[in-house]
Amino acid sequence: MSHRITLLPGDGIGPEVTGAVVSIIECSGVDVEWEKFFVGAEAISRYGDPLPQDVLDSILRNKVALKGPVTTPIGTGFASINVRLRKTLDLYANLRPVRSLPNVKTRYEDIDLIVIRENTEDLYSGLEHEVVPGVVESIKIITEKASTRIARFAFDYARQHRRKRVTAVHKANIMKLSDGLFLQCFRNIAAQYPEITADDRIVDNLCMQLVMNPNQFDMLLLENLYGDIVSDLAAGLVGGLGVVAGANIGLNGAVFEAVHGSAPDIAGQNRANPLALLQSAVLMLHHIGEPEAAGRIYDGIVTVLEQGPEVRTRDLGGTGTTSTFTAALCKAIQRG
Ligand code: NAI
Repeated sequence: MSHRITLLPGDGIGPEVTGAVVSIIECSGVDVEWEKFFVGAEAISRYGDPLPQDVLDSILRNKVALKGPVTTPIGTGFASINVRLRKTLDLYANLRPVRSLPNVKTRYEDIDLIVIRENTEDLYSGLEHEVVPGVVESIKIITEKASTRIARFAFDYARQHRRKRVTAVHKANIMKLSDGLFLQCFRNIAAQYPEITADDRIVDNLCMQLVMNPNQFDMLLLENLYGDIVSDLAAGLVGGLGVVAGANIGLNGAVFEAVHGSAPDIAGQNRANPLALLQSAVLMLHHIGEPEAAGRIYDGIVTVLEQGPEVRTRDLGGTGTTSTFTAALCKAIQRG
């Protein structure tokens, strides 16, 4: 069966890592017809909009997209493509599986943690104003609707992937109304999944426990701001943003993305590590009903990382390039 998928290579190292991932998917034998679009600065110069309507229409039609990193100007210029995509397509769930990989040196072993972040509200609603000079207000929005649907997403994911425990993370001791509502919605939904343990932690305590003993957790569920911070902390437990997957999922579609940036310092040098986007692509293959190929690619990643340093990219302590890694992985997948 052929799949049609929207492809947004992005800029900086984006075209290199998406190119590598497209080749690896091709090696796996999955038949994909890519609909490729420019976004960001390149789209502005061509079409006057960093996220043209054609791109949104393509994702709405295909229901799935693979996205490389996009440079976002700081202070001036266009708003983040990522935030616009999430808002416009209502991609309410951010999924970040965090797993230890062989030969990626970290402080911990055998980490296998799922972080789920609510993507649409909280302090990221952009509702800020100056009350009087010298006093500004930033409004935190938490709704029963969004808190309930993200809790349901987390428990459905847990059930589907045979996870045993979901921990809600909050600060309901201080923000009794907002975080209190998030926690209450979590508990209401948890009651419908009796086979899954549901508990909760206050966010500061959770951060301490995560760095001291991360293996005690199975799945974490967080509001937008805590989720943004804790998901990067969790990535740090297994080697950083260069090695973890990320997906934004909603009823209108799903965007699988590289969670790192466009790395302008190494762009165009064949040095980019495609592993983060590749792991997102593995999630994507599961999502589109290609679990066998997804498993083969994941096993191939493990095999290649266990090989010598000549195939690993420099950020992982190797001497290899984007191309050597890609070629080694294709070989491992085809052999498998
Ligand atoms: P960055 O993630 O691009 O780079 C940080 C450091 O990590 C650099 O030294 C870079 O060389 C290295 N690095 C990142 N990805 C790598 C990879 N795949 N392989 C090897 N090394 C890698 O973060 P930075 O410099 O803060 O951001 C650069 C630009 O990317 C900014 O314009 C920012 O707005 C944008 N950005 C875009 C994101 C997205 O589209 N999802 C996410 C984060 C940042």
